[in-house]
Amino acid sequence: MAKQFTYKEIAEHNTEGDLWMIIDGKVYDCSKFVDEHPGGEEVLLDLGGQDATGPFADIGHSDDAVKMLEDLYVGDLDKDSEPVKRVEAEPSSSTTGGEGNGALILALLIVIAAVVIYYMNQQ
Ligand code: HEM
Repeated sequence: MAKQFTYKEIAEHNTEGDLWMIIDGKVYDCSKFVDEHPGGEEVLLDLGGQDATGPFADIGHSDDAVKMLEDLYVGDLDKDSEPVKRVEAEPSSSTTGGEGNGALILALLIVIAAVVIYYMNQQ
């Protein structure tokens, strides 16, 4: 019987050199395949340690692509294990957006102040 991995164990393999992925309840080690993926590294890295069943199917991968999975197979997902919540990078990016707005408002204030000073000096 194939080795079973929990969601938590799989989630730990989420870096470029150590990248696992779940597709249709099976676990694949994509570490060596990342560089070769015709769809690029980024999409695989984004899904590292997670269930990629949906995204993999959405692309409509060819039979050749499905065949490639056989070489990457390391075991099965323990479906009874507790799913791991993905930590989104959202808050930090929205903070950056906020800072960006702050800088824009400051720049606008400086321009307005410069215009006011210019007109005051005209009189
Ligand atoms: C280990 C799993 C995967 C394997 C073995 C694999 C393999 C391949 C292969 C062989 C192709 C070339 C086109 C084809 O033959 O279908 C391809 C294209 C592509 N793959 Fe994957 N893929 C995997 C996972 C993923 C995942 C999880 C995504 C997530 C979105 C993805 C996104 C894409 C995209 C965007 C393309 C380009 C499609 C195009 O330009 O027409 N792949 N993949």
